[in-house]
This record gives sequence, structure tokens and C-alpha cells, in this order.
Amino acid sequence: MIRSVVRGNGAALPRRIMKNADFEGMVETSDEWIVQRTGIRQRHVAADDETTASLGEAAARAALDSAGMTPADIDLIILATSTPNNTFPATAVEIQNRLGMHHGFAFDMQAVCSGFVYAVATADLYIRGGLAKRVLVIGSETFSRILDWSDRSTCVLFGDGAGALVLEAEEGAGAITDRGVLAASLRSDGVHKDKLFVDGGPSTTGTVGHLRMEGREVFKHAVGMITDVIEATFGQAGITAEDLDWFVPHQANKRIIDASAKKLGIAEEKVVVTVDLHGNTSAASVPLALSVAVADGRIKKGDLVLLEAMGGGFTWGAVLLRW
Ligand code: ACO
Repeated sequence: MIRSVVRGNGAALPRRIMKNADFEGMVETSDEWIVQRTGIRQRHVAADDETTASLGEAAARAALDSAGMTPADIDLIILATSTPNNTFPATAVEIQNRLGMHHGFAFDMQAVCSGFVYAVATADLYIRGGLAKRVLVIGSETFSRILDWSDRSTCVLFGDGAGALVLEAEEGAGAITDRGVLAASLRSDGVHKDKLFVDGGPSTTGTVGHLRMEGREVFKHAVGMITDVIEATFGQAGITAEDLDWFVPHQANKRIIDASAKKLGIAEEKVVVTVDLHGNTSAASVPLALSVAVADGRIKKGDLVLLEAMGGGFTWGAVLLRW
């Protein structure tokens, strides 16, 4: 059977780093509160000349370089983002143009923090369905643009950045030992909309709006939803937590990551944590975490890797792949 195999990965971060202490004069908060409640120590914040498209392009170029490919090799670009450069056209198409790519097709995918997991699962279907052979999957966000910088309960949590993967069709045996995407499970439930949303949009207010979150409510649902969807993915693949080499979760909150890993029986040393460095970068968080763990030599060819995310909607999902 056809498998979607990772050929390369890349990342891009805005130049400016904002430490927790930098919030102290802006809102009533402290480094101690932020670290203790979230594990976040710093985040990158985009300058005016850094956008979802420019960061996404940089991550895509890095992923193509690591795959030994050029834009000419790519058939499809899927960009996961909730912070597009414009309401339309899709920022994926802008990235396609920035890459000098005038063949194939490109579209955005909007599942907030779960966007990258949704996009990898979607790319896998395009590849296995024969509609594309090589897909650039990008997660890129500039959440700093939709934050209410006077709301201490949200502005300290998010950051900007981008990450990307190149997936390519390869014949596999149909076994768990194959490289590539092995299983995926996606969920959403709009009943939770008001717990995490942006209070503006083209069809309602005609404005971009600001992120609003009932953090305690999100927290309450997160661990159960994450563990359910991961158990469904394990069931599809016929594996247990012990078979995993790496768990690369969405990076929103260290306490959610720890509680999920503990409930699933995933050993602490297999969990990739980058929330301290990047904060919550929404759809960029999983590919950014992957880029750190690949660069430092943890994730290697043949390793069994579990990706997971949960976010606004609510949306949630997991992808199991062999690197
Ligand atoms: N600094 C200091 N105090 C603060 C801050 C801050 N930055 N923010 C809130 N507080 C205060 C609150 O006002 C509250 O004060 P009160 O008790 O006087 O009312 C107190 O701290 C405790 O607030 P809680 O909300 O109960 O704090 P909690 O321990 O739940 O931590 C947090 C808050 C970090 C937001 C947590 O609830 C969380 O991580 N939630 C999940 C967020 C998440 O995972 N999102 C993922 C999806 S994101 C996406 O999809 C876009």
C-alpha cells in the first residue's frame, strides 16, 4: 500500500524573543505565575515585516532543503493556520507564489491548534488517493496579531512561528513497521465554541477580533479529549504506549502535556516539550517541536512518533507515523 513518508522538516521563528519578565510592566503578572501554571518561559513575537506567509515560506524552504527537494518537486501545499495574511486568498497560495511554484495546488486548513494534525491526516489521504505525490504540510501562525494585550489570562500564553514537513508517496508493506503515516484519528465538537474563540470575523463583525478563552474550562476538557483520541489511534494501529519512541503533543501547557502522558502511560523521557521556548504557537506548535527534536538528534529515521493536538472548536486529533 502507499504510505506518506516524511522526507524533510523545517521551522522558522520571528527574530524577537519576548521573555515572561517583559510582561511585568504591561499586565499584572509574573514570571513565576506563568512558569508555574504553564511551563512557558519565552515566546517569539513577529515584527511588522514577519507574517504567517513569510514565516511559512521560510519553514517550507527549510523543509525542502532537508528533503533535498525544490518547489518544482511539490504537487500540493496544505497550510494549517488560523491567522492568515488575508481573509482570502488562502495564505497557502501566497506561499506557493513566494516559492515560485506555479503548478499544482494549495489551500489553507483551519482547525486552530489541531490544524497541523488535521493537515498531516489530510495530506496522507491526498497521497494515498493518488491526487498528489509530494506534499508540503505547513503550520504557520502569528497569534500575536489577534491577542488582547491587556488580557493577562491570554496574552502570556501564545507565540508566533512556523514549521513544515515534506511528505512523499512510497510503497509500503501495509505493516506497522512501514515508514510514514500509520494511523490518524480526528474529532471536533462545536458545542464548545464559546470556551475558546476569536470575537470577530468577516461575516459577523467585519473585524479581525481578539482571542477569548475560558482557560479553566479548556483545561478541564483537554486531558480527556487528548487521551481518548490517542487511544483510538493506538487501537487502529494495534500498538500500546510502550511501542512509541516519541510523543510530540501540542504545546499549550506543560501541565496538560504531563497529565496526558501520565494517563496514557507514556514515559516522561519520550515526551517532547518545547512550550518553554515557544509558548502556544497553535498550528505551528507540533512541527516546531518536531524540528527541535529532529535537530538535537532525538527523533531518527525509523522511530515511531505520535503527534497530538487539541484546540478551539473544540477540535482534537492524533497522528501516528514512523519517521
Ligand atoms: N498572571 C497572574 N495571574 C493570572 C494570570 C496571569 N497571566 N492569568 C490569570 N491569572 C489569575 C486569574 O485571574 C485567577 O485569579 P482569581 O483566582 O483571582 O480569579 C487565577 O490567576 C487563577 O486562574 P485560573 O484560570 O484558574 O488559572 P489556571 O490554573 O487554570 O491556569 C491557564 C490558567 C494557564 C490558562 C490554564 O487554565 C490553561 O492552560 N488552560 C488551557 C489552555 C489551553 O490548553 N489551550 C489550548 C488550546 S489553545 C487554542 O486552541 C488556540
